[in-house]
Amino acid sequence: MEKVNVAVIGYGHLGKWHTQKAAAFDNTNLVAIVEPFEQNQKIAQADYPDVKVVSDIADVLDSIDAAIIVTPTSTHFELTKNLLQNKKHVFCEKPLCSTYGEAKDLEPFLGAQVLQVGHSERCHQAWEGLKDTFQTITGKKTIKITRYAPFKGRATDVDVVQDLMIHDIDLMLYLFGKKPSSVSSLGHKIRTDKWDHVTSHFFFDDGDEVIITSGRNHVKEVRALEVMSEVGCHYVDLFANTVSYATNEQFDDGSYVQTQNYEKRDHLLLEQKSFFNAIQTSSKPMVDYTDGLNAVYFVSKVNESLEEGKRLTL
Ligand SMILES: NC(=O)c1ccc[n+]([C@@H]2O[C@H](COP(=O)([O-])OP(=O)(O)OC[C@H]3O[C@@H](n4cnc5c(N)ncnc54)[C@H](O)[C@@H]3O)[C@@H](O)[C@H]2O)c1
Repeated sequence: MEKVNVAVIGYGHLGKWHTQKAAAFDNTNLVAIVEPFEQNQKIAQADYPDVKVVSDIADVLDSIDAAIIVTPTSTHFELTKNLLQNKKHVFCEKPLCSTYGEAKDLEPFLGAQVLQVGHSERCHQAWEGLKDTFQTITGKKTIKITRYAPFKGRATDVDVVQDLMIHDIDLMLYLFGKKPSSVSSLGHKIRTDKWDHVTSHFFFDDGDEVIITSGRNHVKEVRALEVMSEVGCHYVDLFANTVSYATNEQFDDGSYVQTQNYEKRDHLLLEQKSFFNAIQTSSKPMVDYTDGLNAVYFVSKVNESLEEGKRLTL
């Protein structure tokens, strides 16, 4: 099978890690790094002396089959559109686009090429068993997904909904396999002129409720998903890579809570494996255009509910 000639676009915080993965597969040739910022160009060239470093994708379009976009969100639409128009496969970091309108505008450019979106939180090994469990629990569920951290000064070009909550919106849609019918949100602008801490309540027609809190100016780092139902509590600590259970019965050893570790995996590696495999086998990538579009749609609705300060029907 022929190797995939790939460029990484954006050599910033995450681009470095994506480049490291893309350079290491047996089935890829890292052809170029595209980076307009001179200081980052120098770092890229020092890290990869044999790879072409250019400031514009146009300079290498003819020599690539695929590109990995790891640039600020505001650039995702134009870069993705340009690549799709030129029949290139695209892996675009989350969010797919800045707005739902932009994401919809990509539709005419979709073709046989692979378009994958970087919703990396799907790669937790825990979901392999839990996704089915969650979808077969009968009765109403209260689901809480929490993701917050002290301020790191990154991604302030977007609000916390686009930066962090989008991970958990995608997880909600993926793990529970259904869409909410209304949403209400409350947020705070603390350190930037954008929403820095937001709690959204997503309501489902079957009575389930998902409460997502995302914050980037908190006192501590928490990433967790909990599902409370008539069969008890499932609690996934996405930092510690553990799943804890408290069922309606005592465990054999007399305890009421049991905790199991799950395998910590390299999410970027898994995402890129899926991307290159989808290209070479003409199959569906792990997160496709529709998934990326849906996530951006609910981000836009959360923002609307924040601005309007009321519960929105979806
Ligand atoms: N999946 C995840 O968990 C995760 C984590 C962090 C960031 N991200 C996403 O990755 C993307 C980049 O984030 P980051 O933290 O690396 O940002 P960053 O600011 O550290 O890096 C972005 C790089 O892109 C370069 N750039 C800007 N415009 C460009 C263009 N038109 N062409 C080529 N390069 C350009 C910048 O000079 C910079 O070097 C964002 O979309 C972000 O949401 C995803």
